[in-house]
Amino acid sequence: MGSTPAARTTCSSVAMPLAKGISPTLMKRLLSVIGIGAGNPDHMTVQAIDALNRADVILIPDKGEEKADLARLRTGICERFIRDRSYRTAVVRIPPRRAVAVPATGADAPSGDAGRLDADYRSAVEDWHEAIAVAYERVLAEEVVDGERAAILVWGDPSLYDSTLRILERVAARGRIELDWDVIPGITSIQALAARHRIVLNEIGGSVTITTGRRLVEGLPAGAATTVVMLDGEEAFRALDPDLEIVWGAYLGMEREILVRGRIGDVAGEIARLRAAAKAQHGWVMDIYMVRPAGKAASGHD
Ligand SMILES: C[S@@+](CC[C@H](N)C(=O)[O-])C[C@H]1O[C@@H](n2cnc3c(N)ncnc32)[C@H](O)[C@@H]1O
Repeated sequence: MGSTPAARTTCSSVAMPLAKGISPTLMKRLLSVIGIGAGNPDHMTVQAIDALNRADVILIPDKGEEKADLARLRTGICERFIRDRSYRTAVVRIPPRRAVAVPATGADAPSGDAGRLDADYRSAVEDWHEAIAVAYERVLAEEVVDGERAAILVWGDPSLYDSTLRILERVAARGRIELDWDVIPGITSIQALAARHRIVLNEIGGSVTITTGRRLVEGLPAGAATTVVMLDGEEAFRALDPDLEIVWGAYLGMEREILVRGRIGDVAGEIARLRAAAKAQHGWVMDIYMVRPAGKAASGHD
């Protein structure tokens, strides 16, 4: 992260020393959790830009090399939108999650095992969130000075498959620092998918279910008219009724965006091939899709 000569914005990653004699536990930290949209800097709302410009310290979660280009997107957002003020960055090293078996699902799950594996998985996530909370606590205590405002840039919107708000609850509950935060909504990948395919998500008066690939392995949610699936690294759509329509998008909002729409039986193989090629080229892929009975995805009004 750096400054451009045109803007008087400056940035450094030097930690501010704590004031002598003041315990970090007595100081109040202010924090804005800012939804930055799903991959296109143009998704930034005016509210998000204003919140970014109030921040003294931008917290940068470091999840390792794999998604370094996502970190670059965050950096680019700061450089583009922060104007006429200095800010610092502070890296929060996100610890890796303990590996556990993915919960068994469906008819193949030996009875009793599914519950145990699910409990193991939940406990691994709990431990991981606690470790992340400790990492945030440390950075907030050591690198944010009393009265300063920090900001965390959250992909999409913080309310959707993102643990930042849960982790901040943990930081507050640990009681080592006093923390107050606000949340700025962002454009989600669901909205980006619908916009790029020019579709209404719900059928007239119908419901929309949001789920994950891991859940979809158990089958479509009962009674779901429209199902949006996120976090599907396993390509669970391949096992669905081939007559359903799928509306799929990868890297939405980015230059490398890919869109496919059609009958699952006709396009599932193409999506799998595109996913594999994109992953081989970029090292990671983020995709999302909507499924529902064919012919219902046309634009419409309630
Ligand atoms: C950890 S969740 C975060 C969701 C995010 N908070 C939001 O509001 O969209 C990550 C998942 O969101 C979806 N996703 C996020 N950004 C995306 C994008 N630009 N293109 C396609 N899918 C995306 C994918 O399903 C991905 O696995």
